[in-house]
Amino acid sequence: MRAPGESAIGEVLVSAEEVQRRVAELGEQISRDYAGRSLLLIGVLKGAVFFLSDLMRFIDIPVEVDFMAVASYGSATDSSGVVRILKDLDAAIEDRDVLIVEDIVDSGLTLQYLMRNLGSRNPRTLEVCALLTKPERRKVDLPTRYVGFEIPNRFVVGYGLDYAERHRNLPFVAVLER
Ligand code: IMP
Ligand code: MG
Repeated sequence: MRAPGESAIGEVLVSAEEVQRRVAELGEQISRDYAGRSLLLIGVLKGAVFFLSDLMRFIDIPVEVDFMAVASYGSATDSSGVVRILKDLDAAIEDRDVLIVEDIVDSGLTLQYLMRNLGSRNPRTLEVCALLTKPERRKVDLPTRYVGFEIPNRFVVGYGLDYAERHRNLPFVAVLER
């Protein structure tokens, strides 16, 4: 039962077990691809924190972590592509192998901004690892080197993803019914 205007957790699109299995695979793949180097993971607050902390535990090359917080102007569910940096990185990334870790690529506008912004700081390499992607929603073409799961055009919550800051703690990814 829910009151009008309230939201509820609907269909589970990615179970907790599927998430954990895929995160392990991604960590192993990243470790192979960057073997012999050290990697800087950049987490985009807050949604990517959960994915990033699990992913890191499956990476067995030297790895460091830093965070950025950005706000995208727009409605609660649609980003505009106009991005403001709320928290910048602690350290320079020049000549580093950098991997941006994101919860989800939706329109791609936030990531496009981040790729340009971080790219201008002259990292050695710059790639993206996203847990989820919604190909149907993409507005800009982006090279996403690592992707966990492709999902349909539904608004989802869980495993870091929120609606009005709630539901990040769910261990699975589910559709939000409104
Ligand atoms: P984009 O700029 O449109 O790609 O939006 C990226 C950001 O929007 C993500 O980092 C999320 O914070 C948020 N977002 C996009 N789709 C969803 C969703 O289905 N659930 C929760 N947050 C989402
Ligand atoms: Mg969000």
